[in-house]
Amino acid sequence: MSSWLLYCRAGFENECAAEIQGEALQRGISGYCKARADSGYVTFTSHDPGADLFAVLALEDLIFTRQWFAIYALLNDLPLADRLTPILRLLQQQPHQYAEFFIETPDTNTGKELQKLCRALARPLESQLDAGGLYQAKADDRLHLCFLSTHAAYVGYAPLANSSIWLMGIPRLRAPRQAPSRSALKLEEGILRLMFEDEREQFLRPGMKAVDLGAAPGGWSWQLIQRHLFVIAVDNGPMQEELLESGQLEQIREDGFRYQPSKNVDWMVCDIVDKPKKVTALMARWLVNGWCRHTIFNLKLPMKKRYQEVQQCLTMLHDELIAAGIDATIRCKQLYHDREEVTVCVLTADAAGK
Ligand SMILES: C[S@@+](CC[C@H](N)C(=O)[O-])C[C@H]1O[C@@H](n2cnc3c(N)ncnc32)[C@H](O)[C@@H]1O
Repeated sequence: MSSWLLYCRAGFENECAAEIQGEALQRGISGYCKARADSGYVTFTSHDPGADLFAVLALEDLIFTRQWFAIYALLNDLPLADRLTPILRLLQQQPHQYAEFFIETPDTNTGKELQKLCRALARPLESQLDAGGLYQAKADDRLHLCFLSTHAAYVGYAPLANSSIWLMGIPRLRAPRQAPSRSALKLEEGILRLMFEDEREQFLRPGMKAVDLGAAPGGWSWQLIQRHLFVIAVDNGPMQEELLESGQLEQIREDGFRYQPSKNVDWMVCDIVDKPKKVTALMARWLVNGWCRHTIFNLKLPMKKRYQEVQQCLTMLHDELIAAGIDATIRCKQLYHDREEVTVCVLTADAAGK
C-alpha cells in the first residue's frame, strides 16, 4: 500500500498536505501529495511502495487530518445500477478482513448530496461483505469507501487502533438547548478528541477548579459545569444568566491577559480571539507559574502561513515548558467545530502522577 487518503476541513488542504509530507518524511517516508482546493481531502503517495505510514505515525499526531485510510484503488466508473460488484471484486484481491465499514464522503456540499446514496448502500454492503467472507468481528481493520460522485469512490482500509472511531472523523455532538453558545460543542469535542478516556477520568474530576479566559457568553464554562467543575469566568462581556445563578460560576470582569488567579487551579481554558503567539505566551505563563495544571485553548489562525504559525506556537510552548522543567503532553487538532483555528490541549506530568 503506498497511497493514503486524509480528510480535512475544506479550505485546509494545503496545511493537511504540508503536514503529512513533513511528518512522513521525518519518519523516513518520502512522498508527494495531491490536493484540490476546497475538496476536503488530500492524497499522499509514498515513493516507496512498501512504506507503512500507519506503523510510524499516529492519527493523533496530525493536526489537520480528521481521518485517514490506506487506498486500494480509486474506482472511477462504478455502474450506477450496481456499484458494489466492482468494489467487492477489488476487496477479494486484498489481504484484509474488516470488523466494520464506513461509507463516507469528503465534508463538502457535494459530499452532503451523496449522503443519501451512502446510507442506501450500507445494508447491501453489509450483507455482501458477510457473504464474501470479508466481515470478521475480531478483525483489526475497517473498510473505508469514500464517494466523490455517484460513480467514483476511493476504496481502502484503516487499522481500528490508528484511525478515528467517527465517520469522516467527525463526532456527532448535539448542542443542548440550555447551552449558552454552540462553542460548548468545541470544548466537548476537544475533551473527547484530545484526551484519552483514562485521562478524562483522572484529570477532569467533579469538584475541580477551572478558569475560563474569554468566557462569555459561557459555552465553555457550561461544558465544565456539566462536568461538575467550579469555574471562574474572566470576561468583560455578559455571561448567561443561568450560569451566574448556578452557584458553580463566578464572573470576573478583567482582561484575560492580566488576570492572575489568587489560588492555583486544576484547569484553565481560553477562547480569546487574539494573535496566536500572544495567546501561546499567555498559556505558557500559566503553566510555567503553576497557575493551572492543564489547559485547553484555541489558536485563531492567520490568513496565510497557517501551518507554519501553528508549528511555531507549539514549538514555543514546548520549549518554554522544557526550560521550566515541566513534563507535559501537548496535543493539537483542528476540530470539526473549529473554523479558522486549532485547539490545543496540554496535560502536565505532575498531574499525570496524581
Ligand atoms: C469566541 S468568544 C468566547 C466564547 C466562549 N468560549 C463560549 O463558549 O461562549 C471570545 C470572548 O473573548 C472575550 N475577550 C476578548 N479579549 C479578551 C481579553 N483580553 N480578556 C478577556 N476576555 C476577552 C470576548 O469578550 C468574547 O466574549
